[in-house]
Amino acid sequence: DVIDVRSLGSNGIFTYDPGFMSTGSCESAITYIDGDAGILLHRGYPIAQLAEHSDYLETCYLLLHGELPTPEEKETFVKTVSNHTMVNQSMYKFIEGFRNDAHPMAIMCGLVGALSAFYQDHMDITKPEHREIAAVRLISKMPTLAATCYKYSKEQPVMYPRNELSYSENFLHMMFATPCEEYVVNPVFAKAMDRIFILHADHEQNASTSTVRLAGSSGANPFACIAAGIATLWGPAHGGANEAVLTMLEEIGDESNIDEFIAKAKDKNDPFRLMGFGHRVYKNFDPRAKVMRETCDEVLSELGLSNDPLLKIAKRLEQIALEDPYFIERKLYPNVDFYSGIIMKAIGIPTSMFTVIFAMSRTIGWISHWNEMITGPYKIGRPRQLYVGVPERDYPEAK
Ligand code: ACO
Repeated sequence: DVIDVRSLGSNGIFTYDPGFMSTGSCESAITYIDGDAGILLHRGYPIAQLAEHSDYLETCYLLLHGELPTPEEKETFVKTVSNHTMVNQSMYKFIEGFRNDAHPMAIMCGLVGALSAFYQDHMDITKPEHREIAAVRLISKMPTLAATCYKYSKEQPVMYPRNELSYSENFLHMMFATPCEEYVVNPVFAKAMDRIFILHADHEQNASTSTVRLAGSSGANPFACIAAGIATLWGPAHGGANEAVLTMLEEIGDESNIDEFIAKAKDKNDPFRLMGFGHRVYKNFDPRAKVMRETCDEVLSELGLSNDPLLKIAKRLEQIALEDPYFIERKLYPNVDFYSGIIMKAIGIPTSMFTVIFAMSRTIGWISHWNEMITGPYKIGRPRQLYVGVPERDYPEAK
């Protein structure tokens, strides 16, 4: 049931809804979720079908424009994205100002915000063609910036983008090639990366997307809005969960320790939670987690790692949790992050980059929501509060 409270706004009545459990902040035609049924649709298409038949750039086009591209439109879009992968040379000097051991998400917040300083042309957000260029620049440059962060943390030379490669191949090339050694991209890895990008592309009004919309509602620069989204995604209750899952699996270390961790997760005096389980919206199996589990099996079998100890712990944990009344009663199922970390680790991506990859993938969702908001009528976002502080009192001098 939807109660439209717009008419109550000005007569002193407002809803108090911490965590926005029951508050819709906007209308949107981009993504549909039925958390009870485990359904996720982008522009009407089920996520599993997109993961099977589409690729990331096609999904980007769909999210941004509302329809799948024709073959000609796709070719033009892919070419345009490829043409914008380079970043302004001065951005590399900017990166050098950071510590090498800084968390890559800290650097990404700064770098993406700084795009607003380096790309000042085409910034009239009332013009659709300017908004399109901002979107294309973001999609194109995120992998370049992410891989550059990684190279910087390793104190290795930056690898420039290669435009003849696909989006995911190019990302893997920039991450793992060196000036002395070509990186031959394994097609199974490229496909798995592309799936990870698709499965994280959008998820309607989650914390980071809502942040991007809220920031954008003041008319702020789109690159600055996306930087706000990256900052929000960083937290362990949101995008940081895939990093936390792997840390947890490593801490568990052996199947014999699983019961102890399950007991900790159920103990209300212990703040520990089973990372990668539970979701604010899904109270059923996360449809993205199913695809991720299959992709995980494909990558590990390609590497001959089907008996990987972490995967064994993950599968056993999933099985125990699915049978345990605590998790059943609270409808706590594995979420998208539960398997993505194992896949990325197998590909050779360090845990510190996991959330960065989530941010890269989600950039299209953020910018599509920003674009949808700017295109339609919108108001500056301004939630109310329930004041619980001291009542009015006199400043001591004035008594
Ligand atoms: N392990 C153990 N217990 C849990 C877990 C968990 N992972 N998640 C929720 N619970 C319990 C809570 O303790 C609470 O129990 P109670 O009713 O006895 O008090 C109940 O389930 C409901 O939990 P809430 O915190 O109210 O659920 P909410 O919808 O606010 O939180 C969240 C959702 C943040 C995802 C939570 O499930 C969690 O912390 N999960 C682990 C972190 C994680 O995997 N995050 C990734 C989310 S997906 C994404 O961002 C892509």
